[in-house]
Parts: sequence; structure tokens; C-alpha cells
Amino acid sequence: MLEKIVLSGIVTMGRRVYIKTFGCQMNEHDSERMLALVETCGYQETQNPDEADVILVNTCTVREKPEQKAYSIVGRFQQLKEKNPEVIVGLAGCVAEQGGERLLARIPTLDFVLGPGKIHKLPEILRDAERGKRGICTVGFENGCPNNLPIPHAAQLRAYVTIMQGCDNFCSYCIVPMVRGRERSRPSAVILAEIETLVRQGTKEVTLLGQNVNSYANNDPRELTFPQLLAKIDVIPGLERIRFTTSHPKDLTEETIEAFGHGGHLCEHLHLPFQAGSNAVLERMNRGHTREEYLAQIQRLREVAPQIGITADVMVGFPGEGDEDFEQTLELIRRVEFDGLFSFKYSPRPGTRAARWRDDCTLEVKQRRLEVLQELQRGITLRKNKELEETIQEILVEGRSRNSPHTMMGRTRCNRIVNFPGGSELVGALITVKITEGLQNSLRGESCG
Ligand code: 5AD
Ligand code: SF4
Repeated sequence: MLEKIVLSGIVTMGRRVYIKTFGCQMNEHDSERMLALVETCGYQETQNPDEADVILVNTCTVREKPEQKAYSIVGRFQQLKEKNPEVIVGLAGCVAEQGGERLLARIPTLDFVLGPGKIHKLPEILRDAERGKRGICTVGFENGCPNNLPIPHAAQLRAYVTIMQGCDNFCSYCIVPMVRGRERSRPSAVILAEIETLVRQGTKEVTLLGQNVNSYANNDPRELTFPQLLAKIDVIPGLERIRFTTSHPKDLTEETIEAFGHGGHLCEHLHLPFQAGSNAVLERMNRGHTREEYLAQIQRLREVAPQIGITADVMVGFPGEGDEDFEQTLELIRRVEFDGLFSFKYSPRPGTRAARWRDDCTLEVKQRRLEVLQELQRGITLRKNKELEETIQEILVEGRSRNSPHTMMGRTRCNRIVNFPGGSELVGALITVKITEGLQNSLRGESCG
């Protein structure tokens, strides 16, 4: 039976939307919200672009690669459009925010662009597009965050909850403040209510999201601070685990560090990007912290929570990065012994301060540095995974393992993936496992019964 739903005055009958997401967790979460929003308007999700009435590509510009991928994927939908000119193709996310009208002119396949600050306008855009309007450009930011976006209604064991959007830091390489706007925090009451709803729907773990969660509501003295917000979330009945990302060393307070030692629901894992190990490079990056400050924070974190898993982002080949600067990055990695690292070759992003400087590291140098860094980190990751052998870990069982139908997969509090023999009745359970083998990207374990 075809569904008949009235969407702001027009009838939408069983129409299908295909959403393709590139980029970070923030973008993944935006896609979830866009889906929830169009579902309330009668659209159903499809995994097959060939049968979609609306195709939405949600992209991120932070690094060049996802952006290029998005261009090529939008281009591919041209064929679909030739077959069926009724198909509506939209580009959302940071790429849309930055490209705006220019993209509409440049990519003939595109019917609309939608910036991350205007997601709530999606139903209106689709209504106009269904009436034949093309070339719709909806970008920019409004004061305050729209708090009334629907949360995804399908029960999610692990859910993302946005606590703040945008960023005021202006790291010199970073496009985020341009494409996601200034920092705006959501009211704590709205965040808490959203988490309570999610928990009622079956969520066991939340990840609080923001470009810089540690500076949550810093400019609003009446609002809770970030550690106070964590404390309130910690006592929500039924919620088993709390995580947050991303953190900035400059705003990570002692109080937040201490929250990892409370033994509550906050999992002992912190993603704390350091970007570079050389103070001269950090200064040019406008990071607002030194390597010494970063190392002191790592030390404090490990004093408070010795088992904490620490991951980070790092870049190679920033303008002016010499061999000695790069050696300092390697030295910091050896010193900290991260549990995992996300490493990137610097690429200039239009509109940022660093884009005005000469990109003086050749691609070959960047590539070589990246390989050296990744080789170093691979050794550390494997060694640290092996160190966990024979330990007992609590995991939240998420589902079947990708590799075998008789193997289940869960995550430790310090965010390691554990595969273990078991059945799907365990999904959603917190269980203890003994780690039997540490591998490069995951652990093997067995249930302690
Ligand atoms: N070039 C390369 N990597 C970048 N990142 C941000 N901007 C750039 C850029 N211009 C990386 C940083 C950041 C992560 C999300 O992406 O390491 O923490
Ligand atoms: Fe970009 Fe720096 Fe803000 Fe992170 S803190 S989003 S790197 S400007």
C-alpha cells in the first residue's frame, strides 16, 4: 500500500531518498538528521540510487579528498538524470556551504545545495523542487541552533548527540569556521531531554558531538560547563556509556580530565588532536597550545585513568615544516604512544590563512613523511593491542562481526574493537570478555560467561 502523506500542502506518495555521506562523524550525524526529517515528510530511505526520487550527497571539505569524491559522485548521477529528469539531486554539507551558487553553475546535475546550518529547510526545499523549482541555494547560518530537528527515530544502540556546532578557533589550516560558522552551543536542557528520549528508545551509548566540545557554552555563564553537562548525563537512568568528540587541548580543563577518573559511564577514551609536534609549526597553525602543554595533559590523563585510550589527529607537510619539525612530531608520537592516530597530508583550503602561504612541502615529501609516521604508529598500535592480551575488558556488543557469521563484535571502554564467538542475542548487552589476541586493528576475545 502506498503511503499518502501531506508535505506542507503537497502529497508525497512513497517517494524514496538515497543519501550518500562523506567525511566526519558530524556529517554522518547530519545525514541521520536529514533522513529523519525527510522521513517525517513521507520519504523512505533506499540504498539504491537507481530507484531514488531524491539523491542527496552530504560532504565535507575539511580535507581535499572527500570534496573531490563528492564532485565525482554527483557527476555520476548525471546518467540517472538523463534517464529520469524528474530525479532531484542535492548537495549538502560543508562543500555546499562553501561552493553555494558557484556549484549550481558548475555542476549541471545539481538541483539544490544545502549548507549544514540550514538542514531544517530541507522539507521546504524538496517541496519547491517537487514543484519543478531548480537551482535552489540554501546556505548560511542563523543565530542560535535550530533545536527542533527530529532525532532519528529508529532505535539506535549507539547514538550521536550534537551539543555544539561551529568553531571559533581559526586554526590557520582549517576551513571549519568558514563552513560551519561560529560556535553555538545547544541548551543543556534540550541535550538532556534528547538523550532521555534516545535512552527510552533503546540507546545504551551516546557520543556527544561538536567541533570543540570542551568549550561547550564557554560564552554563556548561565549555562552548564562541559564537565557539569557530563555529570548530568552520567545520572540519566538506563544510559550505559558516554563518549565525546572532538576535544581541543587548549580547552581541555583539569575538571574534564578528572571526569575520566570518576568510574562512571564516561568511557576512558579521548580523541585529542595535536596536529604537530613542533612548537614553531603549532604557532603557525594558531593552535593555542605547545607540545609541552599537550604532553602535560597526556600525563595527567594517564594519572587519572591509567587505562585511558588516547587517539589523535596529526598533519604532515604544513607550510614551513622542515625535517627537524617533522622529527619532533615523530618524537611526540614515540613519547605518547597513542592507541591510534588519524594522519593527513596538509592541503591548502581556500579562504584559510595558511592557504595564503607557500605550500612548500612537495607532495613527495608529504607522502614520505606520512608513510614514516604511519609505519611508526602501526608498530605502537600493534604493541599496545598485544599488551591487552589476557586482560578482562567490558564491551558493549554492537552486532555481528564483518568477517564471520558466528562472531560478534563489541567495543571496549577504551574504544578497541573486540571480535568474539557468540550469538546475536547478545546485541546490546554489556559483557566481560578475556582478550585472547591483539591484532593490528582489533582484538580477539572470549566471553567470560
Ligand atoms: N589539510 C589536511 N588536513 C586537515 N585537517 C584539517 N584541515 C586540514 C587541511 N587543510 C585535519 C586535521 C583535523 C582533521 C579533522 O582533519 O588533522 O583534526
Ligand atoms: Fe578547525 Fe581548529 Fe576549529 Fe578544529 S579547533 S574545527 S581544527 S579551527
